[in-house]
Amino acid sequence: MELYDVMRTTFAARQFTSDPLPDATLFKILDNARFAPSGGNRQGNRVVVVRDPATRKALGELAAPAAKRYAAQVQAGESPWNTIVPPGPDAKTIEATPPPPRLIEPVMKAAVVLVLCVDLKVVASMDQDLERVGIVSGASIYPFAWNILMAARNEGFGGTITTLAVAQEPKIQALLGLPSHIAVCAVMPMGRPVKQLTKLKRRPVSEIAVLERWGGAPLAAPHTG
Ligand SMILES: Cc1cc2nc3c(=O)[nH]c(=O)nc-3n(C[C@H](O)[C@H](O)[C@H](O)COP(=O)(O)O)c2cc1C
Repeated sequence: MELYDVMRTTFAARQFTSDPLPDATLFKILDNARFAPSGGNRQGNRVVVVRDPATRKALGELAAPAAKRYAAQVQAGESPWNTIVPPGPDAKTIEATPPPPRLIEPVMKAAVVLVLCVDLKVVASMDQDLERVGIVSGASIYPFAWNILMAARNEGFGGTITTLAVAQEPKIQALLGLPSHIAVCAVMPMGRPVKQLTKLKRRPVSEIAVLERWGGAPLAAPHTG
């Protein structure tokens, strides 16, 4: 596929056909995705390839508590799980909110699930002393995650970066035998998408890029013709 087509059409696939995603294809996807950058080229990225149904079921269930809060906050009109505005719904409301199946089931039904991890012993986290949630560490693993999804798209497959289960990281570590310095970054269900989306909803450049300073003029589209 043409690169820009891949970039513009790689969507969050959550529904899959019964087609397998063979190890040979998975190898090809990872063999290309591994060229993603990481801070200082430390390459702390690791992948656990999960096909066992019992493990996938457990991973799906581990997303449920976070999915409840996610859904309760969306229902309350909030941006779920942000670290700036405390959640409005109380613990009782969150507990009573059913987890949306689309946030739980893909991992249980996908042909394969990749658990993307990063070795915290090698990740440079330049924002570790700031008084806000850490962002920079993720930059050493999520380019790899995105490369996997774009490579999968190129091979006719798809998947989703899911993170809800990470709220229960110690349980994932116990489930998969991960040492405590191996952080879980994403639980990625993958398979052949039932439907290929081609029109993704994204803000235009004029809403996301400004000139010189916050609040500056938007970067304008070039004049054509
Ligand atoms: C950092 C990150 C975390 C995400 N976590 C989840 C998740 O836990 N569960 C899920 O179903 N989708 C998750 N997604 C997928 C997004 O919801 C999805 O990319 C977004 O809604 C856009 O969908 P589209 O690409 O199909 O247009 C996540 C995406 C990113 C980048």
